[in-house]
Amino acid sequence: IGQKIDYIESCPSTQIIAHQLAQEGTPDGTVVLTEAQTAGRGRMARKWDSAAGKGVWMSIILRPDVVPQKAPQFTLVTAVAVVRAIEEVTKLQPKIKWPNDILLNGKKCTGILTELQSDADGIQALIIGIGLNINQEKEDFDPEVRDIATSLKMESGEMASRQKLVQSLLYYMEIYTQMYIEEGFGMLKILWESYSTTIGQPVRARMTNQTLEGIAEGITDDGVLQLRTADGKLHGIYSADIEMTD
Ligand code: BTN
Repeated sequence: IGQKIDYIESCPSTQIIAHQLAQEGTPDGTVVLTEAQTAGRGRMARKWDSAAGKGVWMSIILRPDVVPQKAPQFTLVTAVAVVRAIEEVTKLQPKIKWPNDILLNGKKCTGILTELQSDADGIQALIIGIGLNINQEKEDFDPEVRDIATSLKMESGEMASRQKLVQSLLYYMEIYTQMYIEEGFGMLKILWESYSTTIGQPVRARMTNQTLEGIAEGITDDGVLQLRTADGKLHGIYSADIEMTD
């Protein structure tokens, strides 16, 4: 990962560039890195604040031999890599909120967006977007997210090196994706669960067509959240917004 790095001063979204490169046949592990995004995007068609020099905005193109169901696992693997990188470069202790938010003291400092590129022959590439907030102050965030977003600097009181974070992140992405491809999800699932704030907790899961409340019991090997509702039923949650309810 990162043998080829496409560095761009400014762009609408590294996801868009990564999709283009993937279509042109760029090799597995290509990284797109930018200083600023003018139309950074998040999950569920939300926007992602990506001001110049304030964070790491990048997309990684992977071409594993995966079936589409495996894509969520790569998101979980990425979350573990992000946590390890933050731990290595700062003194902070990040946590993961299922599926892919990285939290510091309960506020979000990193988002991960995994998209698939497919054509008639099947899935051609995974495009993993990572937005890591590093040097923002509270006022830098959009008023809409000001109370739920944070940066490494806001939590540690210190500026962190974006370069070190990129290096560390690519290093752990390499290690963990390799581990995943060679050994499967077993060890990584244990690591993921050890960093998770969600597992064992009462949560509310908002999905497009319904909302469920219960205890988040764990994740399956496919990365599906297992939610036990008060009636004792176990529900598999594939995609939702999670809130803690206690
Ligand atoms: C989320 O909603 O939590 C995911 C946010 C992902 C943001 C990153 S920044 C780099 C890449 N380019 C984008 O436009 N989005 C992702």
